[in-house]
Amino acid sequence: MKDLISLHDLTQDEVKNLLELGIKLKNEQKNGIEHHILKGKTLGMIFTKSSTRTRVSFEVGMTQLGGYPLFLSSNDIQLGRGESIYDTAKVLERFLDGIMIRTFAHQDVIDLAEYANIPVINALTDLLHPCQVLADLMTTYEHKGKLEDLKLAYIGDGNNMAHSLMYGCAKAGMDCAIATPDNYQCDSEVVANAKDDFKKSGRELILTNDPVEAIKDADVVYTDTWVSMGQEAEKAERLKVFMPYQVNAELMKHADGNAVFMHCLPAYRGYEVTEDVIDGPQSVIFDEAENRLHAQKAVMATLMG
Ligand code: CP
Ligand code: NVA
Repeated sequence: MKDLISLHDLTQDEVKNLLELGIKLKNEQKNGIEHHILKGKTLGMIFTKSSTRTRVSFEVGMTQLGGYPLFLSSNDIQLGRGESIYDTAKVLERFLDGIMIRTFAHQDVIDLAEYANIPVINALTDLLHPCQVLADLMTTYEHKGKLEDLKLAYIGDGNNMAHSLMYGCAKAGMDCAIATPDNYQCDSEVVANAKDDFKKSGRELILTNDPVEAIKDADVVYTDTWVSMGQEAEKAERLKVFMPYQVNAELMKHADGNAVFMHCLPAYRGYEVTEDVIDGPQSVIFDEAENRLHAQKAVMATLMG
């Protein structure tokens, strides 16, 4: 395992090991036990999109591991002015021990990882968001005491979160149901890959346009913004199309009575989720946000340690 680009690339054991290490590091950090696994190492963090959680959790995580995080906004580096991914990779590998990148085109991350001889971590592309899903699986484990045999339902846009959740559920031995409007379904190549993963794990993948069908008896209910970064021009149209996919108290009645509600954040109350659900007793959104730190420390320690 050189990079973390997609959970589809990982074995079930690799996912399990990352989650176990994340839980161990969390426990150590809570008990004041230092773990300077990456002493003297530097992580470059390229951002061509905004971020609150990802930036802060990687910076703090790298610091807690004894290393140094270097924030590289695409507005400030030559990549943003047209320098090639190849040249950027070949230069950065001379200075850094790892690169984290958040950007638009997924292919750019694949190319960066191919050209750079240091680990590359995908911190969100238009296609995938694997770091978020590792944190979500860790949070599910903490709240449910297991992952296997659980059902996750994702209601909303067939976007990067839906894609990574499919991959993550398959690797974790969970069932996954995705409800999207007809013209906002998941990427067909990701679905084909995910179907292979679900065949291997023996679990079920349901793709539907019916939120009630998807959420039925779910242990984890998940949604995400209807307007992802880069889709701002489609906002008015999307808000209309997605309204029947809102996660509200009425829809939550169809989930398991002990279901937890998850959202990667940032959230838009009154759109993809109502206030009573996201701020209610079933919501675990801030545990998810915190677990970005611990899960990503496990990723960095594994790839760069
Ligand atoms: N969930 C997530 O990736 O949040 P940020 O966009 O704030 O990093
Ligand atoms: N789907 C969202 C996730 C944000 C963390 C986006 O890409 O903007």
